[in-house]
Amino acid sequence: MSHFLLKFYIFVIFLSEISRDGIVHAKRPHIIIMLGDDMGFNDVSYHAASECLTPNIDAIGYQGMILNRYYASDMCTPSRAALLTGRYPVNTGMQNFVIRNCEPFGLPLDLKILPEYLKEVGYRTHLVGKWHLGFCRKAFTPTKRGFDTFFGYYTGAIDYFTHLSPEPGTNVTGYDFRRNLDVTYEGEGVYSTYLFTNESLRIIRDHNPEEPLFLLTSYNSPHAAANFGTPLEAPQDEIDKIYYVKNNETKIYAAMVAAMDRGIGQIVAEFSHKKMLSNSIVIFYSDNGVPEEGLFATVGSNYPFRGQKHSPWEGGLRVPAVLWSPWTLKQKVSENLIQNTDWMPTFLALAGVKPTQPIDGYNIWPTLTENVPSPRYEIINNINPIEGWSSYYYKGWKYINGTTSDGMFDEWYGTRAAYQPFAGKYPEIVKSSLAWKALAPFSPRSLSNRRMRAMQQSTKVVCQPPVPYATECKPLEAPCLFKINEDPCEINNVAAIYPFQTYLMHILVKRLEAQSRYPVSKPSDYEACDPRKFNGTYTWWVDLEDPMYQ
Ligand SMILES: *[C@@H]1O[C@H](CO)[C@@H](O)[C@H](O)[C@H]1NC(C)=O
Ligand SMILES: *[C@@H]1O[C@H](CO)[C@@H](O)[C@H](O)[C@H]1NC(C)=O
Ligand SMILES: *[C@@H]1O[C@H](CO)[C@@H](O)[C@H](O)[C@H]1NC(C)=O
Ligand SMILES: *[C@@H]1O[C@H](CO)[C@@H](O)[C@H](O)[C@H]1NC(C)=O
Ligand SMILES: *[C@@H]1O[C@H](CO)[C@@H](O)[C@H](O)[C@H]1NC(C)=O
Repeated sequence: MSHFLLKFYIFVIFLSEISRDGIVHAKRPHIIIMLGDDMGFNDVSYHAASECLTPNIDAIGYQGMILNRYYASDMCTPSRAALLTGRYPVNTGMQNFVIRNCEPFGLPLDLKILPEYLKEVGYRTHLVGKWHLGFCRKAFTPTKRGFDTFFGYYTGAIDYFTHLSPEPGTNVTGYDFRRNLDVTYEGEGVYSTYLFTNESLRIIRDHNPEEPLFLLTSYNSPHAAANFGTPLEAPQDEIDKIYYVKNNETKIYAAMVAAMDRGIGQIVAEFSHKKMLSNSIVIFYSDNGVPEEGLFATVGSNYPFRGQKHSPWEGGLRVPAVLWSPWTLKQKVSENLIQNTDWMPTFLALAGVKPTQPIDGYNIWPTLTENVPSPRYEIINNINPIEGWSSYYYKGWKYINGTTSDGMFDEWYGTRAAYQPFAGKYPEIVKSSLAWKALAPFSPRSLSNRRMRAMQQSTKVVCQPPVPYATECKPLEAPCLFKINEDPCEINNVAAIYPFQTYLMHILVKRLEAQSRYPVSKPSDYEACDPRKFNGTYTWWVDLEDPMYQ
């Protein structure tokens, strides 16, 4: 038996315990996933190139693992679908854009999702914050799909204070905030980041630690506010705290990120107060890269990557991610390839659940605990037959054919901040965070300031300079090929000098497309969904129009 298998069995035995009634129960781990929304690769301070300070996120990474080669999907809806199904968006029909407010579809109901599986083995399951996987029928909403409770919003974006969600390009707008199935006005006017932190804390406080907990805290921060006037929103006292950033917009953005980061620290601290950390897995990542151009653009940064949200490029896909648990590697920057479909098979394995449907992701527990190389050799980032583009990774190669928005998002947008706030005091700032204080006691050794700085330096992504044998990538004219490990910034298109490899990638994509599920998207029905018909709120309008549901 290999070393890691042996350790794994010991771990499983350790998880099992005999209760007083003599029945063997598996002690299943608590799972907490915190999501940022549209946060760029460079919007965390552990990359040492941002004006955003994120001591709590950084502390999770330094004490646990910084997942430095972590991929999500290119937009919110596909990314959340991948997390909850373990399947690539091309295989769930969620690969085309996001669900707009009045589009009558959702994550297909034939798919059994993560909280449904976990609930069956005793988990308490909670969703706090954004859903964005459909609500036109009640059956699509989170409390009908395995979540015991829900506190948040159904659409893709709200105003942080009013919780209204206007639909871009239309006059349709409505209130979007619920507790379970009921519209609630309890948080109206309150900064949503605070509401989501508070609700998460309440859930943890009220939780019986003997029962396994699955908590998905899905912040809307730092996504642009949906109001088409002031996309960057934070309470004035939060903004005032960022006195050290000069640019007004960056200052507000940094305040949005800081409020979320503090919430993350409070959540980790609450797990510690409840003595639940010794049996927990804590994850934070961003659902996709930041949009620096176009709809919902903000001032975040995907530096040094190419492209952005809703694009085939690394800027939309490779996102900040950190993980901590008592069993996984400590104080580690991991360059192992991990993707958002990997959580579901990993959690199901830990919870002792056999999935009854196909899954695309891998159980990465050995990678997280023993640094066994990731089993992953491919990622279907996307194959979108409606928009006509594909983005595919296979064994070190990345293939891009076609692109989004006529190439509007194909440049390098993010910048490296000119300075890092309080750079000289950075380790002390991280070490005084709530998350650090909660997690440090679990580490076998303390982390010196010097080693923290070394970890910080090692997360840097180094771009390959232009090479003479490469050509410019024009994905609307011809497919491009990148040696993505050497060329993470997608500068050197080598399709012309590797025609056979390019052809092979083309064949693979065609085959994967043939096996995929066609997008389930449907066009908006503004008239039917119009919140004015429903006391100004978004609701399951398809049900309400169907006599069967009257
Ligand atoms: C929105 O309402 C205004 C004023 O009633 C109208 O002029 C405009 O055409 C409407 N826009 C759309 C996209 O319906
Ligand atoms: C958060 O909860 C505390 C009490 O648990 C309350 O005093 C505070 O007002 C709440 N804050 C927000 C923003 O809801
Ligand atoms: C930045 O914000 C301050 C205070 O709100 C304001 O006085 C100033 O004009 C703003 N500067 C720019 C360039 O918008
Ligand atoms: C590239 O994408 C276009 C549009 O989807 C498609 O028609 C074409 O077959 C693809 N070409 C290759 C070589 O993959
Ligand atoms: C209708 O909406 C208003 C706020 O716009 C709210 O105060 C009221 O309670 C709602 N009525 C019902 C019946 O939900």
